[in-house]
Amino acid sequence: MKVLVIGGGGREHAVVKKLSESPKINKIYCTPGNAGISQIAQCINIKATDIDGILKFVDENPMDMVIVTPDDPLALGLVDKLNEKKIRAFGPVAKAAELESSKAFSKNLMKKYKIPTGDFEIFDNAENALKYLKDKKYPLVIKASGLALGKGVIIVSDQEQAEKTIDQMMRNDMFGTSGHTVIIEEFLQGPEVTVLAFTDGNTIKTMPSSQDHKRALDDDKGLNTGGMGAFSPSRHYTKDIEDYCINNIFYPTIKAMKKEDRNFKGVIYFQMMLTKDGPKVIEYNARFGDPETQALLPLLKTDLYDIFNAIIDETLDKIDIIWENKASATIVLASGGYPKEYIKGFKITGIDEVQNNGITVYHMGTAIKDGNIVTNGGRVLCLTATADNVEDAVAKVYNNIEKINFKDMHFRRDIGKK
Ligand code: AMP
Ligand code: GLY
Repeated sequence: MKVLVIGGGGREHAVVKKLSESPKINKIYCTPGNAGISQIAQCINIKATDIDGILKFVDENPMDMVIVTPDDPLALGLVDKLNEKKIRAFGPVAKAAELESSKAFSKNLMKKYKIPTGDFEIFDNAENALKYLKDKKYPLVIKASGLALGKGVIIVSDQEQAEKTIDQMMRNDMFGTSGHTVIIEEFLQGPEVTVLAFTDGNTIKTMPSSQDHKRALDDDKGLNTGGMGAFSPSRHYTKDIEDYCINNIFYPTIKAMKKEDRNFKGVIYFQMMLTKDGPKVIEYNARFGDPETQALLPLLKTDLYDIFNAIIDETLDKIDIIWENKASATIVLASGGYPKEYIKGFKITGIDEVQNNGITVYHMGTAIKDGNIVTNGGRVLCLTATADNVEDAVAKVYNNIEKINFKDMHFRRDIGKK
């Protein structure tokens, strides 16, 4: 079989690597891919958001399946367009991907179907938002409704900061049109847990729980990033909490989507806060998380291609998904300056050495220049190890991390500590 994976980050490297282990697949293409992916797949230089370019490519190069993992092409309706052409596509259609691409939609859905989440109000007019902020209890959370590279959430500690944030988002295009509608939300407290799940719209099969680290610096300081590291499983996600989530969050969500005629097929990412009043949804993503996927997929024993087929055919209930009963950790190596400005093109060394020590290296933002692997993004590489527990998995990565070298390399030193 011949398949095409859309995207070019660490998540796509992990998906491509898993698919390359399937005996059913003999050729993998990736658009645009990266230096690591190019070692196991044929990379084609078409951007993940170039929908017409991708459609032209699959017209000329028939595929048995196209796997769409990044948020933008999902929101742009790539899966819908592939479906129209009768090409088997993995990922939600645009109407279902709105679970992520419109926080206003997902918050209203949760309200309508009584899925636990923080209290909120939605505004598309700055004056009304500013009026609402008066006499409120702080902190509050202000969120851009649309996609914002995982950075559209601002926690404000007083009215002045809140007013400034509304002004920046709604009047000054801080997140472009994504911030023209905002959600002002109750500040929730408690440990955060993420659960990714495969779903065909009828059945949900969860992956092991995980936890991301969104801030750039240790102790959750610094700016929000796409994620600086993740580990699995979460210490907080007990069997009781899991049962609660399955019955009150996971199934109610896919049933609600079906009822709204937005049948969700793909991976749903549930980010939850375990508050003293029970788990509440912080947000949904309509796709595999990055870097959570790089921590989770190494533990998957079942053929990922079989799972994708079962989702497309709506037969997920018929397949057993087996995970290795181990912990894992992945730690991101970023360019100095990320998530603000950074310089690309620095030579990376040490990858072979850490791989020889049993670490899996996923490329996030890399390219090949003059025969060398060089930095080509904010998040450059992530290093994954598995072990019997999270502490050992984390230690394995940290024992190897400084064998990798590129100019201005930055990583967090506290991944998996709490
Ligand atoms: P998100 O981009 O939705 O993943 O949000 C980024 C981070 O903001 C989350 O990982 C949480 O730590 C935090 N956050 C989002 N919503 C809330 C909330 N209602 N209360 C407290 N923290 C939140
Ligand atoms: N790691 C968070 C995300 O993929 O959005």
